[in-house]
Amino acid sequence: MVLTGTNGKWFSKEEEQTIKLHGVKSMDLIIRPEGADDYRVVEELTREAFWNLHVPGCDEHFVLHNLRKCPAFIPELDLVAEKDGTIVGHIVYSSSMIVDNEANAKHEVITFGPVSVLPSLQKQGIGSALIKHSLDKAKQMGYSAVCIYGDPRYYSRFGFRCTEKFDIKTASGKF
Ligand SMILES: CC(C)(COP(=O)(O)OP(=O)(O)OC[C@H]1O[C@@H](n2cnc3c(N)ncnc32)[C@H](O)[C@@H]1OP(=O)(O)O)[C@@H](O)C(=O)NCCC(=O)NCCS
Repeated sequence: MVLTGTNGKWFSKEEEQTIKLHGVKSMDLIIRPEGADDYRVVEELTREAFWNLHVPGCDEHFVLHNLRKCPAFIPELDLVAEKDGTIVGHIVYSSSMIVDNEANAKHEVITFGPVSVLPSLQKQGIGSALIKHSLDKAKQMGYSAVCIYGDPRYYSRFGFRCTEKFDIKTASGKF
């Protein structure tokens, strides 16, 4: 799915701020950059969020562990959501590319994932807050497109559109 635009109205420009959510349970949430001291907790959070979700066990926490050392990693868009001093959510972005084989051209884009929320706090707006905040920040940083692989039922609410009509697919041919 490709981001074609977000309204950008939810959050101000500060890196760290308190956001009032109006979900099932209102809560004060701080979204801030991930620090090296957070790595272990965030990897554990990622493992909890993905455990047995798509396959028995999961490897998304290991992907995250390796991603931070990768040149494609974008530290400014590596963000945690904190509630009452506890990290409850995380999102990370990396640079990626759309390759146009016909025109022999490459277009730089960014992608996010893994994105995780503690299972006990899911469906309360934390994932949405992280995605909206990070998309705003990416826009402020000058990025023009975000391309992700994910469920349209969730991501369409943030402005993402299916890439099928643009004939953009994964390397293995999936939309
Ligand atoms: C996906 C995730 C980050 C969303 O965070 P969240 O805080 O639970 O999401 P929100 O509260 O902002 O939004 C909840 C809504 O999204 C929907 N939703 C969440 N994940 C979804 C998915 N994979 N497919 C379809 N809908 C999904 C919920 O059904 C709910 O719908 P509703 O608003 O109509 O009730 C979180 O559920 C999570 O960590 N999931 C496990 C890991 C994962 O799948 N990550 C995404 C792939 S990288």
